[in-house]
Amino acid sequence: MQIHILTLFPEMFQGPFNTGIFQRAIDRKLVRVSIHNIRDYTHDKHHTADDYAYGGGAGMVLKPEPIFEAVESLKSEIQGEEGVGALPIILLTPKGRLFSQEIGGELSKYSHLILICGHYEGIDERVHQHLVTDEISIGDYVLSGGELAAMVVVDAVVRLLPGVLGSEVSAVDDSHATGLLEYPQYTRPAEYRGWSVPEVLLSGNHSQIAKWRREQSILRTLERRPELLDKASLSSEERKLVDRLKGEA
Ligand code: ADE
Repeated sequence: MQIHILTLFPEMFQGPFNTGIFQRAIDRKLVRVSIHNIRDYTHDKHHTADDYAYGGGAGMVLKPEPIFEAVESLKSEIQGEEGVGALPIILLTPKGRLFSQEIGGELSKYSHLILICGHYEGIDERVHQHLVTDEISIGDYVLSGGELAAMVVVDAVVRLLPGVLGSEVSAVDDSHATGLLEYPQYTRPAEYRGWSVPEVLLSGNHSQIAKWRREQSILRTLERRPELLDKASLSSEERKLVDRLKGEA
């Protein structure tokens, strides 16, 4: 997968993609990330990327021309390559649809992504209307720009690419992958400061362990994110358990 990120602050991307799982994915050529400075697509001597809002009001608005030019230049480069299908052009903005594991999974299927980081008071509406194909928010709060949101989306997508995690099963049990929060994990020592690892995990009985983990996932989700249970795929027995626990609460 090749990911292009358009930003006014390329220097922000220096740390996160050079560590751990991400660096390994880059080294193994499973993903390429290219950072493009929006200012490189301006034509005046001050490299102006923003301007005052028509109609007045505080704050600056990102101008449409450099963003259109940057995206169009990348698009023609990408679409010249072989076997390129649909090309999502995604704007990171608090006005977008809420990002989720499911959307991460959708995005992981594309060969290329273009992400645009918004800034200031916003972006000229013509970018929303005539350039981007998708708008994503990472949560109901306002960041000072789309960069951190882009890093979040890229991280969540890259770890879903085949071969990126040590084994293909590693992402299967993740919180949200099943529609539930993940069960508790333990490692050695079996007892620490008087706190013991649950007996069942030491039993070697794989079906009992799987059953315990599933129950823990359901309980934890019920406690912390009960709204997720409405959409989670549960067996009829598990549904009954949830209804009973809800009744008791
Ligand atoms: N830019 C500013 N806030 C944002 C958010 N919550 N999600 C995505 N992009 C943003």
